[in-house]
Amino acid sequence: MSDKKTGILLLSHGSRLDDGEEVIKAYKEMYVEEFPDANVEYGFMEIRKPGISETVKKLNQNNDLERIIVVPVFVAHGLHTKRDIPQLLGIESDFDAEMLHDHGHDHNHGHHHHHHDHDDEKIDFDGEIILTDPLGIDTRLYDIIKDRVSEHL
Ligand code: NI
Repeated sequence: MSDKKTGILLLSHGSRLDDGEEVIKAYKEMYVEEFPDANVEYGFMEIRKPGISETVKKLNQNNDLERIIVVPVFVAHGLHTKRDIPQLLGIESDFDAEMLHDHGHDHNHGHHHHHHDHDDEKIDFDGEIILTDPLGIDTRLYDIIKDRVSEHL
């Protein structure tokens, strides 16, 4: 699962705490361990560095990539995967524009979105960008949920 023309970006949300980076970094290292030739990096959509544009730059430092596969390491789709990440990647999104939050104005749906510390720099990449689904529903994740419960039974 690696080829010379493909970059892989494991994309995490980003936090001021270090925990999230430890996790995404560990997954990156597991990937490299299994596929030593893979061009794989981790990055964050907001709050923490490296951001998306910086990570894309790093993946494509030899300027020879044809595609970048971006895996949002999120459990489910949400505003970030449907709207914000496509926007930051400069790719089309099928997200319904009418559902967009207009931050900075009052909105009726009663929730407050808190963090807008995006890496606003435009990404610089001419090749194909493939944004995969998040982790989703999978018995491998269900097993972890059961482990977390049984640790306390
Ligand atoms: Ni967020």
